[in-house]
Amino acid sequence: TGDEQQNQDYLFKIVMIGDSAVGKSNLLARFARNEFYLNSKSTIGVEFQTQKMQIDGKEIKAQIWDTAGQERFKAVTSAYYRGAVGALVVYDICRRQTFDSIGHWLNELHAHSDMNVVIILVGNKTDLKDAREVGTAEGKALAEAQGLFFIETSALDDSNVTAAFQALVKEIY
Ligand code: GTP
Ligand code: MG
Repeated sequence: TGDEQQNQDYLFKIVMIGDSAVGKSNLLARFARNEFYLNSKSTIGVEFQTQKMQIDGKEIKAQIWDTAGQERFKAVTSAYYRGAVGALVVYDICRRQTFDSIGHWLNELHAHSDMNVVIILVGNKTDLKDAREVGTAEGKALAEAQGLFFIETSALDDSNVTAAFQALVKEIY
């Protein structure tokens, strides 16, 4: 039965949310394909990638959904969130406005998804040290207050990207 259990498939739907241009699509591209695009266009509609991961010796498939952070794509919401068991809520550490939007994204998430959805708050673009507007301690404090996990990443220099997805999936599992 050990073998049977190891072959068992887990499929977790994970959604990425956050303001436009915070780096959601590049975090996913880095994680799933080890790619990065300096001049990526805003996502249109919904895209997803399925990524196999190993957690505690079990194979897990993470189906990661990505959409645009722009208001004009708001219509996709219900279907986008349906069945999600995890979420990466992303902001850009160099644009405070994107950090101020986190409350909005959490409301949106809670309105459309299961109460038990596991959430990680992600402060992206740590490579841009000189332009930082949101301190690590601030991110951490917000995460603690809201009961979220927290990590800072850079999709550009591949810092903590896998760790962010791994931490989330491990917690869901
Ligand atoms: P929408 O699809 O519009 O919601 O945006 P998004 O959140 O998917 O952002 P996207 O991944 O398209 O990245 C926006 C811009 O930020 C692009 O020019 C990326 O090259 C850049 N970018 C993304 N991640 C990083 C990072 O970690 N560091 C730096 N320096 N730039 C990044
Ligand atoms: Mg995008």
